[in-house]
Amino acid sequence: MTTRDEREGYLEAAGYNAFLLRAEHVLIDLLTDSGTGAMSANQWAAIMRGDESYAGARSYYNLVSVIDGIFGFKYVLPTHQGRAAERILFSIACKPGDVVPNNTHFDTTRANVEFVGAQAVDLPIPEGRSPGARHPFKGNMDTAALEALIEETGAERVPLVMLTITNNSGGGQPVSMQNVRDVRAICNRYKIPLYIDACRFAENCWFIREREEGYADKTPREIARELFSHADGCTMSAKKDGLVNIGGFLAGNDELLARQESRLLILTEGFPTYGGLAGRDLEAMAVGLEEVLSEDYLRYRIASTAYLGERLTEIGVPIVQPPGGHAIYIDAKELLPHIPPKAFPGQALVAELYLEGGIRAVEIGTAMFGSTDAETGEETVAAMELVRLAIPRRVYTQSHIDYVSEIVEDVFANRSRIRGLKMAWQAPPLRHFTARFEPAVSE
Ligand code: F0G
Repeated sequence: MTTRDEREGYLEAAGYNAFLLRAEHVLIDLLTDSGTGAMSANQWAAIMRGDESYAGARSYYNLVSVIDGIFGFKYVLPTHQGRAAERILFSIACKPGDVVPNNTHFDTTRANVEFVGAQAVDLPIPEGRSPGARHPFKGNMDTAALEALIEETGAERVPLVMLTITNNSGGGQPVSMQNVRDVRAICNRYKIPLYIDACRFAENCWFIREREEGYADKTPREIARELFSHADGCTMSAKKDGLVNIGGFLAGNDELLARQESRLLILTEGFPTYGGLAGRDLEAMAVGLEEVLSEDYLRYRIASTAYLGERLTEIGVPIVQPPGGHAIYIDAKELLPHIPPKAFPGQALVAELYLEGGIRAVEIGTAMFGSTDAETGEETVAAMELVRLAIPRRVYTQSHIDYVSEIVEDVFANRSRIRGLKMAWQAPPLRHFTARFEPAVSE
């Protein structure tokens, strides 16, 4: 617990950027659901069984067998987290001038595509760009737009198509099996590989079971098997649906590609059977990937996220509808119409949630996806100004979540008093992690 006075000081010292706060000064931490979950007794037990051999550890083969059982990919490269898998994949697959379509790139995915000189293009369905629009699979890719983009660019300049499940930057919204099939069919026509950004695959599979015809009687594992059978490979941040605090992998079926990727893995991550992780990390990941498919777990997980969404909707707070899998996204543009996007309404709301109740959220808007022209200082703004309340897995109880809705209710009641911010310092790319802000003097 901290007092409001203390929080004012901490926030100012952090340049109004919640990433720069000390975690011990945060009461309820909804910054991310990544690596912040609680591991189970079984995972801790598995950690004790870690085989720390440099090469060919038993723990690696355990993980490979679990990944084969769920995802069905032949070649598995462990990485320390998702972005390491992304960097390796795009470094091998892309060259400057290429175009990578995705339903919506996550920030690190976009940055890794752009880092190798390729262009990252987001192609969500129109509903995916409209926070209030309801659609059971709002994370879907716009297949007509995909086809048009490939025609326009030329298939030879599209090294792969990616689907992010669930669509994090688009509101944690699921992608339907039908959409995966449709995207696959287009990829087949143009002979382009399809990769899945699989971070929240189990949550996506649960939504398919709940919402898509023909899946109500299938297990999450069966749905996952089918989904990944349409893909050539995946990148995975196991910090989400791997239920671990660190870990990830890159997997696929192409032997030549896997060999090239291994070379890069050895260069920066480690030998291919540990990839920058300890044997015990591989064990914990193997157990987590199985646990996350538990029906009881997934039912509770998705229901508890929806619970927060429903409370906020009752209060009148505009959120991305319907609630997604891992987080609730507040529409800061609608909540704070008096703050123009150039004055970072999302960032201002993040600051206010911390001041009011010690809650840490994250902006997914112009601070994250906008940019400042180096010469003119002109700010390019993002399509949406969202504030994400991400829910760590197996951590908070209903009373914590009730506290969060009470604080949001207070902030909502006083929203007209919230003022915009200006960015005082930044270091692109991924500027939002380290940028410093100041209260805007005039708007
Ligand atoms: N892809 C998606 C969809 C993600 O949400 C993330 C991470 C990554 C890739 C990168 O994985 O962090 O293990 O390197 N998302 C976190 C978040 C950071 O807060 O949403 P990583």
